Amino acid sequence: MLKRQGIWAGRTFFVLLLVLAVRSAAAARSPVLAAKARKQGRYSVLDFHAAGDGKTDDAPAFLEAWQTACSDGSSPVLVIPGGWTFLLSKIRFQGSCKSPITVQLDGNIVAPNYIWTAESDNLLTFYRIDNLTVAGNGQIDGRGAIWWSCYNHKLLAFAYCNNLWVRNIHLKDSAEKHMTLYRCSQAHVDSVSVTAPAHSPNTDGINMALSDHVYISSCSMQTGDDCVSILSGTTDAYVTDTTCGPGHGISVGSLGGANSKSALVERITVSNCSFVGTLTGVRIKSWQGGTGKANGFLFENLNMTAVRFPIDIDQFYCPPGNCPTRVKSSTLISTLIT
Ligand SMILES: *[C@@H]1O[C@H](CO)[C@@H](O)[C@H](O)[C@H]1NC(C)=O
Ligand SMILES: *[C@@H]1O[C@H](CO)[C@@H](O)[C@H](O)[C@H]1NC(C)=O
Ligand SMILES: *[C@@H]1O[C@H](CO)[C@@H](O)[C@H](O)[C@H]1NC(C)=O
Repeated sequence: MLKRQGIWAGRTFFVLLLVLAVRSAAAARSPVLAAKARKQGRYSVLDFHAAGDGKTDDAPAFLEAWQTACSDGSSPVLVIPGGWTFLLSKIRFQGSCKSPITVQLDGNIVAPNYIWTAESDNLLTFYRIDNLTVAGNGQIDGRGAIWWSCYNHKLLAFAYCNNLWVRNIHLKDSAEKHMTLYRCSQAHVDSVSVTAPAHSPNTDGINMALSDHVYISSCSMQTGDDCVSILSGTTDAYVTDTTCGPGHGISVGSLGGANSKSALVERITVSNCSFVGTLTGVRIKSWQGGTGKANGFLFENLNMTAVRFPIDIDQFYCPPGNCPTRVKSSTLISTLIT
């Protein structure tokens, strides 16, 4: 008898809990509580009717949440909650915003499962946003396998972002490069991991151009192409405590291509990094006859295991043959290796 009562009491309690749980889930989506959450500067994409089922295109909901957060002047947080998977079609988060803004990426984002563009493009773009932080334990899955015979879009692009922080997120199977920094200044990428199969073409980890003061630390990159690639117009870039492999290693260039202006890459430090099973460790490649300057490299404390060409400086870079001979001048390279 006593036992029975115990069971019943337990059930009632359980039912009560369930009711409470349902109630609070409903309340979280109620306008009043959502408004309260907004007052505290946190904007969950769920409050903007993102489905989070991995099937519905949640780009419209994300954009609405972004626009609301971006116009909040008290350091808002755009929340992408854990435990949900959001399908996003091509989306562009545009600044400028009213104050520093954080994207808390704890949930997962997946790319569409079909070929959606024939042009060079980006899936997610953050454009002209100062003081942006993107952080969390979430993953962005590019579902790139269907693209690897044509590889024509990047997964996560930052353009014209000053004082940028990207922390902890995981990027996976991009169609092409995983992350790009273009005309960014003071960009900090910390503890980000990238994985794509060794055979996937052009799947660079982090690619940068025309950027300055870029700090990449404690990252781990397993890809089919460059771990980090540093293109012309980049100055003061530091890659530290990072692990690369498989892939092609850390590369500077190609510099001085036929149609480019004079190349400029200055003050690049790669230190305390490990390379396991990569094609090269660190390399600098410039096209034959290109002009410009590649200056102030410091490569130190690099641990290379099963690396085919640990240090490779190629002033006659020419992928799959057939480069016209151009002899007028050459990119000047100076390097310090310790
Ligand atoms: C970004 O930070 C800088 C330096 O703290 C500040 O001057 C600027 O107003 C900030 N801009 C935004 C949009 O937060
Ligand atoms: C590399 O590691 C050494 C030893 O742990 C440390 O003293 C040095 O500051 C590190 N260098 C950088 C640039 O982090
Ligand atoms: C270098 O890397 C290898 C393989 O990952 C590791 O076993 C070794 O301890 C590392 N050496 C140093 C000095 O960190």
